[in-house]
Amino acid sequence: MIVGVLGAGTMGAGIAQVAAQNDNKVVLVDLNEQMLEKSKSILAKIMNRLVEKEKLTAEQSETIQNNIQYSTDLNDFKDCEIVIEAIVENIDVKTKVFAEMEKITSESCILASNTSSLSIASIGAALENPSRIIGVHFFNPAPLMPLVEIIPAVQTSENTLTKTTELIKSWKKVTVLCKDTPGFIVNRVARPFYGEALRIYEEGVADFATIDWAMTELGGFRMGPFTLMDYIGNDINYTVTETVFAAFYFDPRYKPSFTQKRHAEAGYLGRKSQRGYYSYAEGAEMPEPTKNTEVGNYILNRIRVMLINEAIDALFLNIGTKEDIDLAMTKGVNYPKGLLLWADEIGLENVLGKLEELFAEYGEDRYRPSPLLRRMVAKGHKFFN
Ligand code: NAI
Repeated sequence: MIVGVLGAGTMGAGIAQVAAQNDNKVVLVDLNEQMLEKSKSILAKIMNRLVEKEKLTAEQSETIQNNIQYSTDLNDFKDCEIVIEAIVENIDVKTKVFAEMEKITSESCILASNTSSLSIASIGAALENPSRIIGVHFFNPAPLMPLVEIIPAVQTSENTLTKTTELIKSWKKVTVLCKDTPGFIVNRVARPFYGEALRIYEEGVADFATIDWAMTELGGFRMGPFTLMDYIGNDINYTVTETVFAAFYFDPRYKPSFTQKRHAEAGYLGRKSQRGYYSYAEGAEMPEPTKNTEVGNYILNRIRVMLINEAIDALFLNIGTKEDIDLAMTKGVNYPKGLLLWADEIGLENVLGKLEELFAEYGEDRYRPSPLLRRMVAKGHKFFN
């Protein structure tokens, strides 16, 4: 199968590599020739490293690299059976390009988008035959992260969905099916990991290092929220939060934080600017957390019940199945455990109790428990037996 990838940036180059490593011929198109050259040389370096580590033979590495054809011309997509778009996150640019791609490719070619925040329906609206549209949301870095969210729009045909899912599974990826709603599964359910951590900091409960310590040492998360935000970039993470907040008609649960906004405005973007919540300048020392387990457990418990409530509400609204919601968080963002399974283990009545306590204390809608959680507790049910 010939796979087209549009955009040779971080995501496009990674997706092209995944397809090429799985014996697909790939046409990688970018308007910017320098981006094509850059992605080609980065791939060569990655392949050389894999050969040195004896994960690939020199011959395999050569075949993979030869599987990718680099081009600046959209017309080179004409023989593709699927094109995956990974260009700038701008609806006007995307719809224009999708309309062009529809004319170039055959009727049966699937047109997919890797968008993180735009609706798949809005991109599909640019097509004369929108049954060809679908969302395939990879995680960065695409060759290493196992999860791909598959998002059919209201216009997507069964055939488009089946063929796309089969292809992505043949790339040995874990797929989850999600509804075309803001943030899909992962970027929706993960919001409190950042939002509640920032809120706890703003209330003066603890500093960044202590909150990160509670989540990693006591919670088993691979990275604390502030370390993770510094990796992602405070500008990007803030924009995602703001977009999700607006897309949910300003539901207070997704309210962005002034602390993060000010860090972004100040240019404290994180690792990429050598300074975020922490300093990454040469010789800078990481601040020590205050290892008080009572405070640590309060922090962990508060952020975790907010995450669990978000996962339960996603299930309540049929954004994904319970299995897919748990898979998405463990395979897309490396959570130590699926949130619904975790809720079972903690006890749903304890999760509800903690949320009700927060709701009573703050009187804010942000802490409202999902109706599904109340229903499950009333019936004495669990998510998994
Ligand atoms: P990037 O900025 O690294 O790369 C975008 C590439 O698209 C650039 O090489 C640019 O030259 C090219 N481009 C822009 N307009 C074009 C056009 N009209 N025709 C052809 N090429 C064009 O961006 P990145 O980070 O790879 O993101 C791409 C898409 O993937 C966005 O929709 C983003 O929301 C989504 N995404 C990003 C993730 C991330 O962690 N960076 C994760 C998952 C999805």
